[in-house]
Amino acid sequence: MKLFIDTANYHQIIKVNELGIIDGVTTNPSLLAREKIFEVKEIYQYYELLCNKVRGDVSIEVMSNNFFDMLKEGEFIAKICSNIVIKIPMTIDGIRAIRYFASKNIKTNCTLIFSSLQALLAAKAGATYVSPFIGRLDDICIDGLSLLQEIKIIFSNYCFDTKILAASIRNPIHILSCAKIGVDVVTLPFHLIMNLYKHPLTRLGLKQFLSDFNQNIKF
Ligand code: E4P
Repeated sequence: MKLFIDTANYHQIIKVNELGIIDGVTTNPSLLAREKIFEVKEIYQYYELLCNKVRGDVSIEVMSNNFFDMLKEGEFIAKICSNIVIKIPMTIDGIRAIRYFASKNIKTNCTLIFSSLQALLAAKAGATYVSPFIGRLDDICIDGLSLLQEIKIIFSNYCFDTKILAASIRNPIHILSCAKIGVDVVTLPFHLIMNLYKHPLTRLGLKQFLSDFNQNIKF
């Protein structure tokens, strides 16, 4: 299972890169807005900076809503760096745009997936990734993990190459369940990545080992 970081923050990307366990990045307009970049030109320069720091795929979302503007914007963004994946919302125009980009061998990530039939449409259009938003479904009392299971079955029934990228991940149970279901990628906020390392027994065990060593071993 690949691990992506879900952020548009430069410092977080640099930090997790050093850990050596991160395979890519996902961003979205809300995450980008937190970085307080106000000029469109600066946004494109910022994307370039981020993408050059990352080894794997970096999903950058189009801000356009209609088919022709999505093509124009997506083609422009795709030229910024070779590891950019064009993130496109699950709409009628979005699915048309995904089909177009697939025919040009430009990678896409179909975002805001909340049903398995939406995922099926995106896969049929040739999306590289689909992003089901697990946490946002849980928030309204619909089981997000069941959606992942359904998509996994459908994609395997028809041998789609489209990868399942589990998004809107809120807690470690989500991550563990994603690994058990066998999704291709999980994208995580920075704090959840750092929490993966922690266990109280690891901390206590290490403290005990060091204390025993320091009390009994003489140099
Ligand atoms: C994924 O691509 C999205 O950026 C993200 O996971 C959304 O998460 P949220 O529901 O916590 O905003």
